[in-house]
Amino acid sequence: MDHFLYRNGVLHAEDVPIADIAATVGTPFYVYSTATLTRHFTLFDEALNFADHLVCFAMKSASNQAILKVLANAGAGMDVVSGGEYLRAKAAGVRGDKIVFSGVGKTADEMRLALEGGIRQFNVESEPEMIVLDQVAQSLGVIAPITVRVNPDVDAKTHAKIATGKSENKFGIPISRAREVYAMAASLPGLKVIGIDVHIGSQLTDLAPFEAAYRKVAELTEQLRADGHEIKRLDLGGGLGIPYARSNEAPPLPTDYGALIERTVGHLGCEIEIEPGRLISGNAGLMVSKVIYVKSGEDRDFLILDGAMNDLIRPAMYEAWHDIVPVVEPAPGAEPAKYDIVGPICESGDTFAKGREMPAVGPDDLVAFRSAGAYGAVMSSEYNSRPLIPEVLVDGDQFAVIRPRPTYEEMIARDTVPKWLD
Ligand code: LLP
Repeated sequence: MDHFLYRNGVLHAEDVPIADIAATVGTPFYVYSTATLTRHFTLFDEALNFADHLVCFAMKSASNQAILKVLANAGAGMDVVSGGEYLRAKAAGVRGDKIVFSGVGKTADEMRLALEGGIRQFNVESEPEMIVLDQVAQSLGVIAPITVRVNPDVDAKTHAKIATGKSENKFGIPISRAREVYAMAASLPGLKVIGIDVHIGSQLTDLAPFEAAYRKVAELTEQLRADGHEIKRLDLGGGLGIPYARSNEAPPLPTDYGALIERTVGHLGCEIEIEPGRLISGNAGLMVSKVIYVKSGEDRDFLILDGAMNDLIRPAMYEAWHDIVPVVEPAPGAEPAKYDIVGPICESGDTFAKGREMPAVGPDDLVAFRSAGAYGAVMSSEYNSRPLIPEVLVDGDQFAVIRPRPTYEEMIARDTVPKWLD
């Protein structure tokens, strides 16, 4: 459920008409709903009430300071994967002991940053990383709390580019080698083992792969405890999918997911941590764009928008579906049209949808891409020298620009020309 609904024939973000925002900030832009962000976070939080827990928002999905503040105010921790994300979380006021550091290639500098600023735990993904973390921690005279990310070799049944839990993926250490890796961790004086981490992929629409992975984690917890390790925290990753097409069957809800966690690992008495990104931010954001032209091709019509693959890359990168709807609700019984929906960028990959049936629209009409709050703005670029598009946050009847659109001058001024070219 989200808070982007038609009212009086016009799409609203909570109580604000989308057209009002477009008139203020121009198009294209991203708009987020505070109520939706909070609601989705709260669903996860309540689903884990059976145990001590922390929901750490995977801020790779959406990392604007204002979004982080909304979630932090609701009680969220953060899952970060770079020094930049760590500092963004801190800048939004998140305490170090609510920040988890994930990622397969943490550098010594990033480790130092987090150890100095405070960290809940590092999710370590390899032995070489463990050795470097141990050295960095010792050089600072501190002890780094860690989990080891295990790769359970489970097929997440999602798009190949976002599956992470198979043995062929670069993530984690094979679960079959976990005991020897934990033994090594325990021997390093700069590290303190506190738990286990697992994350098998993103946009999972079925609970079965989670169940398979979590059962393996439960078994491993018992083995590691028998080996003498203190396993008090389980980080179960993110990955629960969202309904990108309203017409499809909805994926499982956070409540179903929470019940699954309780069923598979609840008996272990561990503190539970999860790292959802998409389910919190995905349906909390739209990308709004304007029709520039409707161009008739030989056998099809092209809807040419002012938004492009640099603004929302998911369709080009993952063949992802986003519902695309007109901002002005079509009259009942209006004829549907069929378009290839494209942006102005000079490559054929700049296609949002092919042969998409939707209500007919024309030049200057606004359209909204639903489910664009996750992996939208954060994956955008300035390809074709198109300045990054603004982000707007709505709360009830108020809205604010939370990242302005750079001017062309600002964009160009970021380059510097060496003296010898003058
Ligand atoms: N934890 C870890 C260790 C992750 O690698 C990820 C996502 C998450 C949590 C959050 O997963 P979520 O709950 O958002 O599914 N750009 C792609 C998605 C990449 C996901 C990468 N890792 C997309 O647009 O679909």
